[in-house]
Amino acid sequence: MILRIRGTDMQYYVQTLCLIFFPGAHFSESEKPGPEVPEIEVSVQKNEETYMVYTSMKLGAKFVEATGSAIPTEDIKNPKRLEKIAIGRAIFSAGKALLGYTNAWGILTGVRPAKVANEIIRAGAGVQKTRRILRDEYFLNPKKAALVVSVATTENRVLKKLPDNLCSVYISIPFCPSRCAYCSFISYAGEKLLPLLESYLEELEVDIRNTFSIIRKRGLKVATVYIGGGTPTVLDEKQLAALLSVVCECVDVSSLMEFTLEAGRPDTITEEKLSIAYAHGVTRVSVNPQTLNENVLKAIGRRHTVADFYRAYDLAAKSGIRDINVDLIAGLTGDSFAGFSQTLDRVLELSPSNLTVHTFAVKRASNILRENSQVYSIVGGDVTKSIEYSQLRTKSAGYIPYYMYRQKNTVGNQENVGYAKEGRESYYNIFMMEEIHTIFGVGAGAVTKLIRHDKNGKQQIQRIFTPKYPYEYLRDAEVLRNGNLEKPSFEERVNIFFDQEA
Ligand SMILES: C[S@@+](CC[C@H](N)C(=O)[O-])C[C@H]1O[C@@H](n2cnc3c(N)ncnc32)[C@H](O)[C@@H]1O
Ligand code: SF4
Repeated sequence: MILRIRGTDMQYYVQTLCLIFFPGAHFSESEKPGPEVPEIEVSVQKNEETYMVYTSMKLGAKFVEATGSAIPTEDIKNPKRLEKIAIGRAIFSAGKALLGYTNAWGILTGVRPAKVANEIIRAGAGVQKTRRILRDEYFLNPKKAALVVSVATTENRVLKKLPDNLCSVYISIPFCPSRCAYCSFISYAGEKLLPLLESYLEELEVDIRNTFSIIRKRGLKVATVYIGGGTPTVLDEKQLAALLSVVCECVDVSSLMEFTLEAGRPDTITEEKLSIAYAHGVTRVSVNPQTLNENVLKAIGRRHTVADFYRAYDLAAKSGIRDINVDLIAGLTGDSFAGFSQTLDRVLELSPSNLTVHTFAVKRASNILRENSQVYSIVGGDVTKSIEYSQLRTKSAGYIPYYMYRQKNTVGNQENVGYAKEGRESYYNIFMMEEIHTIFGVGAGAVTKLIRHDKNGKQQIQRIFTPKYPYEYLRDAEVLRNGNLEKPSFEERVNIFFDQEA
């Protein structure tokens, strides 16, 4: 795609909007024009507080122009927000005129739509008006506007009762028994990795102890702990017991609001591992089939059967662990509306406390993309129907949507939504998505997100990244933790962030 942008530094946002209409496009000003190459121009002007945007789009013989503008209103005053709305209006109108296509999420491109809804609600607009603003100003279709406001309302209810001074801890186990074809999470699989796992757990223990010690020194209270992956239950019984004991030594687990072990793959779940988890205070566990269609399970390389899922779920249900989460994916290659809806109906019969419905995201690293680059579709065929079904069906089964996020390159541009029985929402998922408080990330690929508020109440966020791959982590963890002549230690970085002038 040839994209020319003038008068704004929101290049990334403009590109994201263009990708709605031309998924998978690459951006360049020097690409040679041709009948298949879209040419887009975006020009932004600011006059006092008003943003005016001109856009043109050309594809083959077709050429369209559109404008968009935004002025401050009672509900939306932030200049960045206004600039985004004006740019969005212009590109959205031009794309619609050129391709006759509208996008359910309008110009809301970010990962966290409920955060935008919450900003508008908290600025005083209230629920009804926020829904209208999302429809009229952000061009969301009414169903998405209702969904996002409903998530924001649930989040507000859950967050209302919380004290200040909380933080959470994420512990990363980026290892899996084998690699699923659709997955692009960085995770190591296979026999030869087992020796690496042992040294990884040793280093992780040092980091877990260090992190909890910093938390104590700073007088923070740990609200939730989340052990995620990968597949944490790839650890054998002894390794799992040792890891959980370290957590129990660092924090009074009975005082946690939630302690999640993301088991995930049914083929790694045993009665003994669940009983160890329960004995160490785990309150929430995931048991994920992704789909209950046997052929699709084979096609996506999950290496477990439908019967394995039922066996693992039954063990989890009898383990005494308070909450069970089930992850599903809509739009998997080879699946259909009939397949997805049957999966969902069968999962709901089990009555889990949480259910997370993901939309298949085609990511560069996944085998599926390498093998078939055509699986991603702009309109998404059955997936839109499947996602709408999941929203209606979970509601009739007594679940409410409580957190959500959007990923790039999802089939049909649909979202990921977590549903819960009322009062059984996962706190960690809300904290993470709404960026409510600091989350300390421990282990390879984990990100620490420090959060504080300045004297004007403005939120400040700083991320500290841990190396992504286990071998890099093993190489660099010591320096990241203790620092060296050039770099401050992890603790010093945390203290510098929190102790800066309010
Ligand atoms: C980090 S994975 C860990 C889960 C666990 N290892 C398992 O396989 O059950 C968390 C969830 O992300 C979802 N996921 C992974 N790859 C995805 C993709 N390409 N598109 C959509 N969802 C995906 C799956 O539902 C998965 O359960
Ligand atoms: S879906 Fe889960 S088990 Fe499969 S590769 Fe990804 S993280 Fe590992």
